[in-house]
Amino acid sequence: AIDYEKVDEHTKFLIFPISVIGCGKTTTSQTLVNLFPESWGHIQNDDITGKDKSQLMKKSLELLSKKEVKCVIVDRNNHQFRERQQLFDWLDELKEDYLAYDTNIKVIGVSFAPYDKLPEIKDITMRRVINRGNNHQSIKWDELGEKKVVGIMSGFLKRYQPVSLRRSPDNMFDLMVELDFGEVDSSLTNAKQILSEIHKAYPILIPEIPKDDEIDASFRKSLDYKPTVQKR
Ligand code: GTP
Repeated sequence: AIDYEKVDEHTKFLIFPISVIGCGKTTTSQTLVNLFPESWGHIQNDDITGKDKSQLMKKSLELLSKKEVKCVIVDRNNHQFRERQQLFDWLDELKEDYLAYDTNIKVIGVSFAPYDKLPEIKDITMRRVINRGNNHQSIKWDELGEKKVVGIMSGFLKRYQPVSLRRSPDNMFDLMVELDFGEVDSSLTNAKQILSEIHKAYPILIPEIPKDDEIDASFRKSLDYKPTVQKR
């Protein structure tokens, strides 16, 4: 029998964010991946252009199947229960197409948007998305205009279903990192908290937390991130 509780050097990890638009998923993910360029990967939903939405999971598992890769961040907002459920369903369905049947995968959730901070989150993410301008795969300020962007962002906030660990699907996460949200350097604070909580729960994945100045440098680099795929 496969012992799914056992975590060892063969264990692989997936990270599913739970967020609304602009909370810093990409910046936080890039900060982490830059620290472990060989063993961590990052697949962005915004880079997937075809009709097949499950490409997000297929690409993530393909990357995770590489020998040296231990952890992949599956970057999408997943702001509703059904989106989180869909990721778990895809994982179940597709896992054995990419990884040996006995591969043990742990799924880590990262919640970016505390429910009691939604009004601040709304203000700050709005300002950041204005600043980001056209520097995004699908949300282009110049093309959509302020009204449409505000409409898209408000829709996410209205439909948002925060993590609820006692119910399905959120009770399927092996670990949940619940981030706070602040204005200044929030993605740096996020990256540090994620590193510390994963290090504590899964030292096999993060045996040693990188030094503060390395994390800082990685964050500064990530703030300059420019997407490569353009969606039309
Ligand atoms: P979506 O993909 O649109 O949902 O956004 P996201 O959650 O991936 O957020 P992203 O990382 O793209 O951040 C949104 C904007 O805020 C970008 O222009 C980032 O450069 C900026 N940003 C992210 N984190 C920080 C931070 O800690 N401080 C500052 N000043 N800006 C940040």
